[in-house]
Amino acid sequence: MKIAVLAGDGIGPEIVAQATKVLDTLRRDGLKMETEVAAFGGAGFDAFGDPLPESTLQLAQAADAVLCGAVGGPKYDALPRAQRPEQGILRIRKALNLFANLRPAIMYPELVGASSLKPEVVSGLDVMIIRELTGDIYFGEPRGRTTNAQGDTEGFDTMRYSQTEIRRIAEIGFQTAMKRAKRLCSVDKENVLETSRFWREIVIDVAKQYPEVELSHMYVDNAAMQLVRRPKQFDVIVTGNIFGDILSDEASMLTGSIGMLPSASLDAKRKGLYEPIHGSAPDIAGKDVANPLATILSVAMMLRYTFNQDEWAQRIEKAVKAVLGRGLRTADIFEPGMTKLGTQAMGDAVVAAL
Ligand code: IPM
Ligand code: MG
Repeated sequence: MKIAVLAGDGIGPEIVAQATKVLDTLRRDGLKMETEVAAFGGAGFDAFGDPLPESTLQLAQAADAVLCGAVGGPKYDALPRAQRPEQGILRIRKALNLFANLRPAIMYPELVGASSLKPEVVSGLDVMIIRELTGDIYFGEPRGRTTNAQGDTEGFDTMRYSQTEIRRIAEIGFQTAMKRAKRLCSVDKENVLETSRFWREIVIDVAKQYPEVELSHMYVDNAAMQLVRRPKQFDVIVTGNIFGDILSDEASMLTGSIGMLPSASLDAKRKGLYEPIHGSAPDIAGKDVANPLATILSVAMMLRYTFNQDEWAQRIEKAVKAVLGRGLRTADIFEPGMTKLGTQAMGDAVVAAL
């Protein structure tokens, strides 16, 4: 197992260091794998003038899986779009064909009090959001600036999805639902968008191969509302790139902290890039306060989805639960009566629990 490790910017290096400790512990216990680090995001720009340096892309292509921290920071905000750290993540997704983004939102019983919603609304929550990741308005052409007939300048992007793109992400949605409660909700904006009308048609067609899955459709605005109203109605959600970007941030917060949630971005052969769903949090970078658990849980997802090592994955997940059960908390999930730990101490606690 070859893992490319791209720590990135802000809190990225700190949280990835904790995930690396976890990997080292598993290696000590017999898990066979190699890791190699490379510059990415703002760090890639600093070292090579490119958020996705050629050498980093080659390493990621050669590896079986990629572990990422986070990218971006105020230092890079003024750069032209092509050089911004965010382009590094968008380009690596596209280059590795990582079209399926799995973002689970799971409520840990120990953290029910950390959610901004009432305990009865969120306790037991377990939603899997599947976001299409290499198409839609994020990549659609044409895009740019133009001058219209009135002489006014316009900015524009293009929302588009091909049948192939919709079909393959719908398949992932149905297959995931089959392994869970067999309920799939496809989210679109079919009442307004042509892209969404086509999306819905194709999803309905793919559904014929999965008669056991109960398929529903929901407009994205309603889905945003239902997620805070009655989130437990959802099992698996499948949606396009931009809707999934927004809804997955919303869903993460139901669980109390965006600092807890891992993600997997997979290609058709289950090669994957694994990262926490939160960002680089420049305001707390270097202060040893960031929550490393989302990154550590991303390693568990990596072992499960790319390497088919479910037992090792469960071992990590159990260690995280044990740490929470002992009342150990980083600042983002801290409640009175608990023990507050820094980033490194939390990493050490997980290693000890392993
Ligand atoms: C995410 C992030 C990225 C996205 C940004 C950093 C480009 O918000 O992974 O959700 O929009 O996809
Ligand atoms: Mg996002």
